Amino acid sequence: MFQSKSRVAGVLMSIGAVTAALALNDPTPAIAQDREIVRASFNEDGSVSQPENWRTWIFVGAPLTPNALNGGEAAFPEYHNVYIEPSAFEHWRRTGEWADGTQFAKELVLLRQADDCEPDPDNGSCAQTSGQGFFQGEFAGLELKVKDATRFADEPGNWAYFSFGHQPEPYAETATAFPADACNACHEANAADDFVFTQYYPVLRAAKP
Ligand code: HEC
Repeated sequence: MFQSKSRVAGVLMSIGAVTAALALNDPTPAIAQDREIVRASFNEDGSVSQPENWRTWIFVGAPLTPNALNGGEAAFPEYHNVYIEPSAFEHWRRTGEWADGTQFAKELVLLRQADDCEPDPDNGSCAQTSGQGFFQGEFAGLELKVKDATRFADEPGNWAYFSFGHQPEPYAETATAFPADACNACHEANAADDFVFTQYYPVLRAAKP
């Protein structure tokens, strides 16, 4: 009895030693996995607060409308970096639908301007290490859309649209929903998947079941 117990303990110890040795040989350094996901939250007056860390959400695409190609002032200048909150991405990946509570952020980013990046007056491009083209510069605005069947029962598709300003950081702390014809109507008419422009987001198309 005593003997077999100690044999078991011995086996366990050697498994432990092998595991420890494997861990020591593992060339991948440990990376902390705990990133905090904070969705935009609503206030008592109905406004919404900034979602603090949208840049750690899932990045889905970056449509580009250079000012130079849009009469000097694009409606949404210039890169549009679009992110989806991760739990909503998981739901989309499993079902191909936007869950109630889905949040998207769209951050505007200007083209890079620098001494070594003189913008072409015709299209705003410049020559950089990888070639003639378009490169991201400074952040220039933040928008948000939220699907919520309870809060936005009367909005088409239950989607509401917000802007924290088209300006350099800091963006506004809070925002109130736009009327449907300011934002929602164009999405309803032109977006491929339930008000969302998945035709421009390869990451979401690839994840759709
Ligand atoms: C004229 C059409 C049009 C109007 C009006 C419009 N959008 Fe959009 N929106 C787009 C297009 C096209 C995209 C796809 C990405 C891109 O090109 O920016 C988009 C994408 C977005 C996204 C990313 C998620 C998605 O649905 O694809 C957000 C957030 C957004 N718009 C917010 C707004 C807000 C806020 C307003 C109102 C101030 C607004 N939009 C008005 C056309 C429009």
